[in-house]
Amino acid sequence: MDKKIEEVKAILKKYGQEQLLSNYDRLDENKKKQLLDQIMNINFDLVNSLYEKTKHEIKQGKDEITPIEYLDKYKLNEKYKYYENIGKKAIKEGKLAAVTMAGGQGTRLGHDGPKGTYDIGLESHKSLFELLADSLKEEEKKYGVIIPWFIMTSRENNKQTVEFFEKHKFFGFQKDKNIFFFIQGELPMIDTEGKILIGEDGLVKLAADGHGGIYESLVKSKMTEKMRQLGVEWVFIAGVDNCLAKMVDPVLMGIAIDKGVTVACKSVVKASPKEKVGVFCKRNGRPNVIEYTEITDEMAEARDENGELLYGESHILCNLFSVEAIERMGANPLPYHIAYKKAKYLDKDGNLVEPESPNAYKFEAFLFDAFGEVDDMAVLRVKREEEFAPVKNADSAGVDCPRTARELYKKFHKID
Ligand code: UTP
Repeated sequence: MDKKIEEVKAILKKYGQEQLLSNYDRLDENKKKQLLDQIMNINFDLVNSLYEKTKHEIKQGKDEITPIEYLDKYKLNEKYKYYENIGKKAIKEGKLAAVTMAGGQGTRLGHDGPKGTYDIGLESHKSLFELLADSLKEEEKKYGVIIPWFIMTSRENNKQTVEFFEKHKFFGFQKDKNIFFFIQGELPMIDTEGKILIGEDGLVKLAADGHGGIYESLVKSKMTEKMRQLGVEWVFIAGVDNCLAKMVDPVLMGIAIDKGVTVACKSVVKASPKEKVGVFCKRNGRPNVIEYTEITDEMAEARDENGELLYGESHILCNLFSVEAIERMGANPLPYHIAYKKAKYLDKDGNLVEPESPNAYKFEAFLFDAFGEVDDMAVLRVKREEEFAPVKNADSAGVDCPRTARELYKKFHKID
């Protein structure tokens, strides 16, 4: 231990992060060891470069943004059946798995617990996890096949998530047979001086590295290996907070297979040109998503010869990947985006500080930043009312909240 602590002290001195040991003497032996291990595992050069990034305004407008082609699911005509049959065959052969991303903090919703455990207020009082489990089980029955379900958690919510599933007997799934849990990666949070914070537990304050961490964590946790063992070739990835996510879609799969692309994404048309959503586009010739903050009014309003918005296909976090594409995306680091957040921490005297306004930087990778890894992908426009009922905010916000999600869910499932 003595040798290790000297080693850690030298590292911290080199990077000017000595504050990380200021509460060390107050920790029990177990936590002391944990803290030293955590520090040894921090990539301080990455932390430094991320801090530098917080000081510079992001340069925008250099990229060449062009529209991306898309298909409308309900304008495929005779091709609909054609794609559907290709997809159905692959599903029946057991080539599809589903991944639910449930590692987010759900700060806007403000629910005490993992977002997936949230009850959106249906008569059944089913949680978001159970609603997704129901839909997957129904599809399994329909196709007479097992569709393995992978759930991404964060270190922060993994225990509570798995306990919730245990309590509900995994909603009929069998742990490590057809339902698998894996934990996403994390990065330290830093203050405005670039100093890494100490969390309430006296350890390094870490936060999930964004939904873009999905690729690396699927690979690192050997879930892609597991998928291959199970004969899975295609993986549908969606967030836990869309209670209408259609995880098994033969048309989407058929399109991907037929067109020979390794990524196929769903979109819904923007509710209005100014809607604050990211939309599919090509960036410097490669598939990407452009944020509403990056798009000019002129681009937002531009229409094609059929009167359709040129940048109107919203990204709804419902995407299909080949296992090979995930492995490729997991091998290359994604850029990190900066979020300025409120974060509780221990000061150097061991006092808990609970800020009332943002005080710390959190770094997150975005799933769609990996789209540029592939030369081409398919975008399929689906109907919002059939596939997109997100739970992002508390009811007081009035949009993308439990009330709106509940109404959409009931309407779709014809529940009075
Ligand atoms: P959001 O970006 O909406 O974040 O995540 P959130 O954590 O749910 O909510 P806020 O922003 O704190 O209010 C979209 C989906 O991606 C998952 C979320 O769980 C959600 O299903 N996600 C997000 C992760 O799995 N990990 C992350 O690090 C971030």
